[in-house]
Amino acid sequence: MLAIIGGTGLTQLTNLEISHRQVMRTPYGEPSGAITFGRLRQHEVMFIARHGYGHTIPPHEVNYRANLWALKEQGAQRIISVAAVGGIRADLLPGVIVLPDQIIDYTYGREFTYFDGRDCSVTHIDFTQPYSQELRQQILDAGRCADIPCLDGGVYAATQGPRLDTAAEINRLERDGADMVGMTGMPEAGLAKELGLNYAAIAVVVNHAAGRGSSRNGVHLETISAVAQPAMARVRSILECVVDSDVD
Ligand code: HPA
Repeated sequence: MLAIIGGTGLTQLTNLEISHRQVMRTPYGEPSGAITFGRLRQHEVMFIARHGYGHTIPPHEVNYRANLWALKEQGAQRIISVAAVGGIRADLLPGVIVLPDQIIDYTYGREFTYFDGRDCSVTHIDFTQPYSQELRQQILDAGRCADIPCLDGGVYAATQGPRLDTAAEINRLERDGADMVGMTGMPEAGLAKELGLNYAAIAVVVNHAAGRGSSRNGVHLETISAVAQPAMARVRSILECVVDSDVD
């Protein structure tokens, strides 16, 4: 089954016909909230709001391990993660939807692995391609089918937050090769890979990164939701085309 993890601006899927909600406990603690089950265009999907349904859990406090474990336990094989980002690359303007294909992880102090050596021998995973190529392609095709432009590829820098970045930090991220910056891409993608889930992210640019464009003198936090809202409506349409293209 397909699971969707909603981020800032996507705490629910409006067109989801909800069948039930399931509160879960996992060996890693509690997920961000109950898992919502329902039908999106006649296809079974599950949904969880990463920051909680009331948007109360900051990026560094999200229990990423519990969220992914719970989704897998409930039968998810594929995960589409939706996340708000700041745009660093010149074409990643506010409102743009982009499918990252690489990650650089700058987070710290988060529970980032299931393989912590306590119950198992040392385990490594290959993370050369952090996102499922197949699922990315399906989302790109869905974007085309919905006539919604989705940029293909970009390097996602995962920062610790919850504060936004300094202009110098953004310059450094750019020198490192990052195209966009967000706070939730890791450890989520790594944990999904550890669990063998097919995982891809839809990133929605909600602001110019610090020091760039309209954020040259500061990020206007008050405009973020005005940008996110219509963009998330487009993400919902893409998700509907994704499930429509599923052969289930
Ligand atoms: N920086 C970090 N995370 C973000 C940003 C940003 O500018 N915008 C949305 N998430």
